[in-house]
Amino acid sequence: MSGQNQLSSDFLETCRARVDAELERCIEQHSASGRLQEAMRYSVLGGGKRIRPALCLAAAKALGQSGEAALIPACAVELIHAYSLIHDDLPAMDDDELRRGRPTTHIAFDEATAILAGDALQALAFGWLADAPGLSEPVRLTMVRELARASGHGGMVGGQAIDLESVGKTLTMAQLETMHRHKTGALIEASVRFGALTAPSVSEQALVSLTQYAKALGLAFQVQDDLLDIEGDTSVIGKPQGSDAARAKPTYPALLGITGAREHLAALLESAQQSLREFGTEADPLRTMAEYVVARTH
Ligand code: IPE
Ligand code: IPE
Ligand code: MG
Ligand code: MG
Ligand code: MG
Repeated sequence: MSGQNQLSSDFLETCRARVDAELERCIEQHSASGRLQEAMRYSVLGGGKRIRPALCLAAAKALGQSGEAALIPACAVELIHAYSLIHDDLPAMDDDELRRGRPTTHIAFDEATAILAGDALQALAFGWLADAPGLSEPVRLTMVRELARASGHGGMVGGQAIDLESVGKTLTMAQLETMHRHKTGALIEASVRFGALTAPSVSEQALVSLTQYAKALGLAFQVQDDLLDIEGDTSVIGKPQGSDAARAKPTYPALLGITGAREHLAALLESAQQSLREFGTEADPLRTMAEYVVARTH
């Protein structure tokens, strides 16, 4: 592992422990009992990398914050992400049976329970964010508004709709970018912005730079996801390798070829890093997270 990657993986490891404990507490406190709760636990606590919460905590750190106030916003994004994965794997969408090296939620439970677990996690995310401690009411309201946009038809769900409509079609580069900005980029952008918004006196300039970083990284994240679908190994990526090709999904490698997709990935990484040029060492966790996202193997 390179020095940079070791650093980011140490940072991720620390974040993961904090985030997992908080998610566990949240699911225990707020969800119903029985099969629905079991499915929610299964989907949220089943070993995700926690990249979005780590980005949120890293952005807070870049602005001199301890990350305490960013913890619940970070987890709220992760709950939306967990719900999006449950629905993404359903037979009506990607129809995948493996996620994080285990049966997908609809296989481990049943389709109706999986749909409901996703619905419940989405509501839980908003309720939890609205009550997040250590943040003023205007900041919480801004976050709830941004999360609604990033999750809904103008963000993740809109991107998923474009993804499904585009099966079997060749998109232009601009169309592909629009799809990825919505389906994956929007939640990554929200993660970074939430971390920044926990800093009481965040400047407009810092917010613009961090948003630019997140936009480039959000695209890079999905380019690497698309590459892993081709080049990864099912036992390492924990989801079925070749799923995109089998379903004729529009992806960067399908449009640009593997070499073209890799070049694009490198350009996006460079652009993300450039967006952080005004920050000092306090933004190193964001820098190393960017390295990690493009080099990750799962
Ligand atoms: C997978 O996201 C879904 C995409 C948006 C491409 P992650 O790779 O972050 O999944 P987990 O949470 O670590 O399993
Ligand atoms: C999913 O994209 C993006 C989401 C909003 C969940 P993918 O369909 O490529 O994600 P994986 O590869 O199944 O994790
Ligand atoms: Mg999908
Ligand atoms: Mg999928
Ligand atoms: Mg994928």
